[in-house]
Amino acid sequence: MPAEIISGTKVAASIREELKEKVTEIKAKKGITPGLAMVRVGEDPGSVSYVSAKSKASEQLGIHSQTIVYPIDATEAEVLAKVEELNRDPKFHGILVQLPLPKHIDSDKILNTIDPRKDVDGFHPVNVGRLLIGEPYFMPCTPHGVQELLIRSGNSPEGKHVVICGRSNIVGKPVMAILMQKKKGANATVTVVHTGTKDMASITRQADILIAAMGRPKAITADMVKEGVVVIDVGVNQVGTTAEGKRILVGDSDFEGIKEKAKAITPVPGGVGPMTVTMLMANTVRAADMQSA
Ligand code: GUN
Repeated sequence: MPAEIISGTKVAASIREELKEKVTEIKAKKGITPGLAMVRVGEDPGSVSYVSAKSKASEQLGIHSQTIVYPIDATEAEVLAKVEELNRDPKFHGILVQLPLPKHIDSDKILNTIDPRKDVDGFHPVNVGRLLIGEPYFMPCTPHGVQELLIRSGNSPEGKHVVICGRSNIVGKPVMAILMQKKKGANATVTVVHTGTKDMASITRQADILIAAMGRPKAITADMVKEGVVVIDVGVNQVGTTAEGKRILVGDSDFEGIKEKAKAITPVPGGVGPMTVTMLMANTVRAADMQSA
């Protein structure tokens, strides 16, 4: 039987409804409006589009958002000073600096300056460490979205063998840290495979749940998974453009081949993508709640 297609668009919409209610409750009970400040440097088209999506989502949920835009030649000192100002500004509970930053600005230095209690991306080393010990202030947005997609599609990772393909700091490693915790909605046996892994297919074939996050188009093929696997595809790879100039996107897994064999699979686009912005909204609401406790 062909796989169930897990719609990230639908799951994200239902989480956003819950968040809208939560925002209304925070406004009524605490008299504050959750606030998100975003910093963008330069006009990278991806960054412009992501920041605009985050700003629209904020507006829809009743979150106050502001985007501070700097020209591409802004100095590191200017951006650092802005982050420090935002750290002190009680209107903003969450701060996000959109990556990538231009090469003359040290991204780590900027990210490490964000107050960990306002770091809604979850990229600050304090938050990375807290995640690992199971006491996160914030979970990074895409990895948290992966966990929510599994739970809300009825494919809880508890007791399952999860194989993560890819060991990046923004996806592979945090997904590992989240799913291996002794917690509800986690408690999985986790294996991480990567470019140093010998005979990767012999491991991916053992996966009850496979997370594809290596950034290579259609790298996971049907012969690399077992019958009944659940595949969450985090990859977004542009492989061309249509005659109308639209981007052609594919994931890190061969969707067409795998869907004949899998129990469930996420599409690209419309899978993990819509979850990322939604979990950022969830973190901003959580930040406001925490800071007004
Ligand atoms: N650039 C690409 N993805 C992200 C993200 O999740 N957060 C930030 N701040 N920048 C990004």
